[in-house]
Amino acid sequence: MSVVQRPRRLRQTPAVRRLVAETRLHPADLVLPLFVVEGLEEPRPIASMPGVMQHSLASLAEAAREAEAAGIGGLMLFGIPQHKDAIGSEATNPDGILATGVRVLAQAVPEMPIIADLCLDEFTDHGHCGVLDPTGRVANDATLPRYQQMAQILALAGATMIGTSGAMDGQVAACRSALDEAGFTDTMIMAYGAKYASAFYGPFREAVDSSLQGDRRSYQQDPANAVEAIREVQLDVSEGADIVMVKPGLPYLDILSAVAAEVTIPVASYVVSGEYSMIEAAAANGWISRKPAILEALTCTRRAGASIIVTYWATEVAGWLKEDR
Ligand code: PBG
Repeated sequence: MSVVQRPRRLRQTPAVRRLVAETRLHPADLVLPLFVVEGLEEPRPIASMPGVMQHSLASLAEAAREAEAAGIGGLMLFGIPQHKDAIGSEATNPDGILATGVRVLAQAVPEMPIIADLCLDEFTDHGHCGVLDPTGRVANDATLPRYQQMAQILALAGATMIGTSGAMDGQVAACRSALDEAGFTDTMIMAYGAKYASAFYGPFREAVDSSLQGDRRSYQQDPANAVEAIREVQLDVSEGADIVMVKPGLPYLDILSAVAAEVTIPVASYVVSGEYSMIEAAAANGWISRKPAILEALTCTRRAGASIIVTYWATEVAGWLKEDR
């Protein structure tokens, strides 16, 4: 019997495999999320995310410079205030921790795209992404003016882009008009087009000292649904999104791929805290091989259609990619 078709020919050496690879990771495609905590003197490890820190303003600047030296494409910032209240007052304090953190980043790495997270959940005492109505429901329309104020404050502080992660209807349009009215017509919006109510955000709750009781299922999407992700993304595009994101990452590669086929703007994927921690925990136990698992996870994310990947491994992976060249 003679075998004529031999796909293995194209897999025979590392050099041939490199030549025919359809997907490559590049440091420029990676975005590093960072956490800055008000009043923190020294960086503090996040137990549920081994290797990730809550930063002081000084260590934030240092991490940003390190990320820039590694060649990564952007930074995303979350701020954790000391004082939380029902409306998330600190989110719209021009001297609050998030705006201050943005200013520190803009000064430390002026060339680097800085994405400020635009959401109230780190700032509210109930931990929800919006303000509540008298019955305790998250009030969509009453939240939008809070987001608008936040957008202007973050743009003024030097954010290149805002990440609208709150999952309220109309938030992209609200933020776009608020930015434009204040003259920030060049400030970009990374819209969390498809954002699912996911258990994989678990470790993030510790990272932002979240006080959330319950869940976000009345505003974030149901993991069972795919069609509504396209609707959400189309709305964000029509409201003025510059980039759309799908979140979480690996369990939602089908959504990512469908979104990438649908839109004509860049598509990002957020490989979230739970995905990070699962790989770290398994690797720490010797159950999987850390570096190949991380590279596979990110390569598959690119293959599925993400041109941008938000990942806590960004700086480290960028370092590996440099070495490999
Ligand atoms: C909400 C927000 C969350 C994450 C990013 N922005 C948590 C949530 O929606 O409950 C999670 C990111 C991660 O898990 O890495 N503003």
